[in-house]
Amino acid sequence: MRILVIGSGGREHALVWKIAQSKLADKIFCAPGNGGIANFAECIDIKADDILKLLEFAGKEKIDLTVVGPEAPLSSGIVDEFVARGLKIFGPSKLAAQLEASKVFAKELMAKYSVPTAAFKVFDNPEEAKKYIEQAGAPCVVKADGLAAGKGVVVAKTVDEAKQAVRAIMEERIFGASGNKIIIEECLEGEEASILVITDGKEVVALASAQDHKRINDGDCGPNTGGMGAYSPAPAVTKELFKEILDKVIYRTIDGLAKEGINYHGVLYAGIMLTKDGPKTLEFNVRFGDPETEAILPRLKSDLVEIMLAASEGKLARLKSLEWDPRACVCVICASGGYPDNYEKGKIISGLEDAQKLNDIVIFHAGTKLRIINDVGQRQEREYLTDGGRVLGVTGLGKTIKEAIAHTYQAVEKINFSGMHYRRDIGKKAVAREER
Ligand code: AMP
Ligand code: GLY
Repeated sequence: MRILVIGSGGREHALVWKIAQSKLADKIFCAPGNGGIANFAECIDIKADDILKLLEFAGKEKIDLTVVGPEAPLSSGIVDEFVARGLKIFGPSKLAAQLEASKVFAKELMAKYSVPTAAFKVFDNPEEAKKYIEQAGAPCVVKADGLAAGKGVVVAKTVDEAKQAVRAIMEERIFGASGNKIIIEECLEGEEASILVITDGKEVVALASAQDHKRINDGDCGPNTGGMGAYSPAPAVTKELFKEILDKVIYRTIDGLAKEGINYHGVLYAGIMLTKDGPKTLEFNVRFGDPETEAILPRLKSDLVEIMLAASEGKLARLKSLEWDPRACVCVICASGGYPDNYEKGKIISGLEDAQKLNDIVIFHAGTKLRIINDVGQRQEREYLTDGGRVLGVTGLGKTIKEAIAHTYQAVEKINFSGMHYRRDIGKKAVAREER
């Protein structure tokens, strides 16, 4: 099969790496890809949200399956366009992608179909929102309705902070039209977990549980990021909790959508808060998580292409359950100094080869660029430069999470670039739980 992966981050590197292991994959393309992906796939210079060019490419190159990484093309309707032209694609339709693209849509669906989530109210008027905050008090959570590159949520400790969030989102319009409506919701407490499933709208196969680390600094301090590290499995999600999440969150959502006339194909990712009153849904994403995917896929023994193909053809029922490596996997993100705010690009990355030589270590590139320094005969010299906020996802396996952490940091310590920043406590919470 000829397979096209859309996107350019660590998640897409992990997808391409896993797809390359499939007996079904003959040729892999990635648009636009990155320095590391170029080792497994032919990188094509088309942006992830340029649907017209992607369509044209898939038609011309006779692509048998397209896999979409990021949310933007999904919420713009890439799946609908491909399907309309008879091209096979893995991911939800534009209507289904509203689960991520509109938090109001997601919350109203959850309320209608009894999916456990924080109590909430929707506002389209900033004055009313501020009045409500004064009555309801703090803490509370203010969320922009639309996509905001993961920055549209403010967990406000005080009434002033919450009102400031309303001002920024609805009046200063820092996220543009994404702030036409907001949600104000109850502040939940507990540990977070990411539950990802693949579905064809009827059947569901669950991927292993994972946990992300959203804040930039150790001890969950500092601003939110796209994710600074992840591990899988998440011991906080016991077998019983996993089943409860599938029953009350995943199935109710997919069945609810079906009742609304929306058939959901692709990955459904539920961000869950494990509260003392049971699991509650924080958000849905309509795609693979990043960096969760980097920590999940190295443990998956089954053929990912077979699973995605079955889901996009509505034939998931034919698949038996998935096979997993029982070992734990940890992914530590190496980021550019300054991220998630301003940072410089173009720094030379050293130590990659040494790190990669360690057993059971795989380095997923997120923001890197390959530079060929010298291309004489067989002796091509190349180097990688930083080209984004999150630069690398250094990923390692171990018998326990504790072992996987020690092993992964051994690799991280071999790598360097000017300004490199990484968290030193990825997986720490899970170790405490493992040893309890
Ligand atoms: P979201 O994009 O909705 O997942 O929100 C981003 C982050 O904000 C989550 O990963 C949580 O850490 C936090 N968050 C979102 N909603 C709530 C809530 N109701 N209570 C407490 N924290 C929340
Ligand atoms: N790791 C969080 C996300 O993918 O949205």
